[in-house]
Amino acid sequence: MAQVNENYLKLKAGYLFPEIGRRVKKFCDENPSAKVIRLGIGDVTEPLPPAITAAMHKAVDEMAVRSTFRGYGPEQGYDFLREAIAKHDYNARGVNVVADEVFVSDGSKCDTGNILDIFGSQNVVAVTDPVYPVYVDTNVMAGHTGPADDAGRFGGLVYLPATAANDFTPPLPDRKVDLIYLCYPNNPTGTVATRETLAKWVQYAKANDAIILYDAAYEAYITDPSIPHSIYEIEGGKDVAIEFRSFSKTAGFTGTRCAFTVVPKGLTGTANGTRQSVHALWNRRHTTKFNGVSYVIQRGAEAVYSPEGQKQVREIIAFYLENARLLREGLTKAGVAVYGGVNAPYVWLKTPGNLSSWVFFDKLLTQAHLVGTPGSGFGASGEGYFRLSAFNSRENVEEAVRRFAALSK
Ligand code: MLT
Repeated sequence: MAQVNENYLKLKAGYLFPEIGRRVKKFCDENPSAKVIRLGIGDVTEPLPPAITAAMHKAVDEMAVRSTFRGYGPEQGYDFLREAIAKHDYNARGVNVVADEVFVSDGSKCDTGNILDIFGSQNVVAVTDPVYPVYVDTNVMAGHTGPADDAGRFGGLVYLPATAANDFTPPLPDRKVDLIYLCYPNNPTGTVATRETLAKWVQYAKANDAIILYDAAYEAYITDPSIPHSIYEIEGGKDVAIEFRSFSKTAGFTGTRCAFTVVPKGLTGTANGTRQSVHALWNRRHTTKFNGVSYVIQRGAEAVYSPEGQKQVREIIAFYLENARLLREGLTKAGVAVYGGVNAPYVWLKTPGNLSSWVFFDKLLTQAHLVGTPGSGFGASGEGYFRLSAFNSRENVEEAVRRFAALSK
């Protein structure tokens, strides 16, 4: 009889966002006239900018001609894109990343999950709490945890709480851990890590021979010039960290799919007592299980770095950040405690009246026809919090603020 992966049975409910979708669909089916505004999943709403679509159109035309047609590309990504990434995202900030260290992929969600393929099952894994659920769920699927307790914390994982009480700066682990997931600007809290905070993490990783899995998918939203965009801006960062980045939220690629992961050549882990190159293992994994992002999409991603592409992309990011500001200010006026949303497209709020996250979700949906994301869906320490995404039209954001203000207390 075929055995299934029993670790999946430890996962309590469905993945967070489909579960929200299910509840919203039920509400909409039962209330077809309700004008529901969705500020739940962080999915972009603005179309791809013209510099990017022009590059994609050109690439489509190349595919229609025998002499310029391309079949399988390099699994790691075309040189033109890997070089543009190294140059603009790293070298321009004084960080020495070379094109060979960049692996182009179809998403940071996939990469942060798939990365576990190259790590052993004995590692002690630390996550901040609340946290992007993919990090936890993929560790559960891989059998790295015990069952969940009543609060939803999985046995074996080290949870590092990030709440208003510690200004959303999680403590360093109080024991030795081997893998640490960090996400800055943070999903879900919308807060950032200072240079000093990241330096402490790099020091911790060095002292404990740990590897940091650094998710910087929202780095393009950093407005404060003192905040690092990459963990490699911290001295020693390249010795201890893998960095995940995405074109999804930077340039509107959630539907077209393009991201990249940087695995430094000098980064090592151990197997059978000897040091092993993490880069070599990821290269092996990537070339075995992945056939590359399509040529057309990679040409579109390359255009993000052109002068017009940069200008257009910056305008869209500024638009979403203005949405975040309107949400922050509107909710503050309505007496709600809000966090984040300055260097990130997410606003994190304390649920009014100390309602539980899911009770507030239902109240917001049924009374104001607004959809957000319950903080508890991101972890036990997210209970009593709620996330709003700034990815929406201006009209919807303004209407959402009005409805929030009118919500019964
Ligand atoms: C979110 O809403 O947290 C994101 O859209 C999830 C993702 O990027 O996969």
